[in-house]
Amino acid sequence: MKDLKYDVLIWFIITFIPSIISIRFGTYNIQSGSNFEHVYNLTETAETIRRLEVDIIALQEVDNITIRHPIDQTTYIAQYNKKQPFQYFHFEKMRNFQNGGYGISILSKETSIKRVLTYHYNNTTAEQCTVQREGDYCQGFILFEIPFKYQDNTNLSIYFGTTHLGIGLNGLQQLNEAKQIVQWMTDNIINVSTNPYIILMTGDYNTIPSDDSIKNVMLSLFDDLWTAEDICQKVIDPSNINGYTFDALNPSKRIDYIFILKSLNFPDQIKLNCKIQVVSTLSSDHRPVLLNFDLS
Ligand SMILES: *[C@@H]1O[C@H](CO)[C@@H](O)[C@H](O)[C@H]1NC(C)=O
Ligand SMILES: *[C@@H]1O[C@H](CO)[C@@H](O)[C@H](O)[C@H]1NC(C)=O
Ligand SMILES: *[C@@H]1O[C@H](CO)[C@@H](O)[C@H](O)[C@H]1NC(C)=O
Ligand SMILES: *[C@@H]1O[C@H](CO)[C@@H](O)[C@H](O)[C@H]1NC(C)=O
Ligand SMILES: *[C@@H]1O[C@H](CO)[C@@H](O)[C@H](O)[C@H]1NC(C)=O
Ligand SMILES: *[C@@H]1O[C@H](CO)[C@@H](O)[C@H](O)[C@H]1NC(C)=O
Repeated sequence: MKDLKYDVLIWFIITFIPSIISIRFGTYNIQSGSNFEHVYNLTETAETIRRLEVDIIALQEVDNITIRHPIDQTTYIAQYNKKQPFQYFHFEKMRNFQNGGYGISILSKETSIKRVLTYHYNNTTAEQCTVQREGDYCQGFILFEIPFKYQDNTNLSIYFGTTHLGIGLNGLQQLNEAKQIVQWMTDNIINVSTNPYIILMTGDYNTIPSDDSIKNVMLSLFDDLWTAEDICQKVIDPSNINGYTFDALNPSKRIDYIFILKSLNFPDQIKLNCKIQVVSTLSSDHRPVLLNFDLS
């Protein structure tokens, strides 16, 4: 017979284990503030992000003071929610575009960010990218290092990153860039970090899970949190059971991801509880992906 008292005890323990760190992350390609019908409304974008109630969010396709959208979109979104603004944010201009900048951002309500690391694919500068070449969006990634402590004496980090891969050359563009992510992570984090860490690498990869860039390159280092069976709980929308993220109206592809990598020296005693979810909204041509991430 099932022992109810035992169940209650387990529930009690699970519910009341204090978190070491608990963060709600998101990743969202905002199509520079235009909704699924290509109608520009940055207020709608910002309002949708407010409703996601994230602590930290990565954005792709962000404009900064361009001719088409003469506004600093990152700062506007960061300050939209007056009660709980994103107090710490970073926009990385990947290319010069329409007299301004085009790139990706990370916005955070958490302010104890230790480092902001950036990389541009093929080491190109924003200036070298004024003219777009075939397949090449001239992109790169941003990585925030969020420090936290365990039992007063162990220094750990969560790295939260994002990217937007190019598209074209029959998938070779994505493949090339995914390889550079793996190489950079190996050279700059894995081979040099002595403290335990978790890397969460998000973004719009412009490629589906069965393509080489994901299957053979990203998964050589990371787990894909949507498909990894034993890491996070999936919050499944019955009308979108495959977690498709594109397009927003009739989703048929999963091209936006959250990947995870845990360092080999990460303490076994620290348990990860997480929930991943694709949210239905028409405020862009993509859907956002959310991750409730809790270590205890
Ligand atoms: C833009 O979005 C906001 C927030 O959803 C809405 O209140 C407003 O009416 C929209 N503006 C236009 C011109 O549709
Ligand atoms: C946007 O561009 C302006 C002008 O170059 C710059 O001052 C500002 O810092 C940029 N915004 C962000 C969030 O980086
Ligand atoms: C970027 O560099 C790779 C080699 O690392 C090369 O194969 C590729 O053609 C380059 N892409 C561009 C757009 O220059
Ligand atoms: C970019 O520059 C770094 C540092 O010089 C180098 O290690 C890396 O291999 C370069 N990446 C490419 C694709 O050339
Ligand atoms: C952890 O970081 C603190 C600074 O926040 C430093 O003083 C301390 O020496 C570090 N501990 C270890 C074990 O590296
Ligand atoms: C970097 O790490 C990889 C595996 O993660 C290993 O094969 C390689 O030898 C390391 N390189 C250095 C210089 O430590």
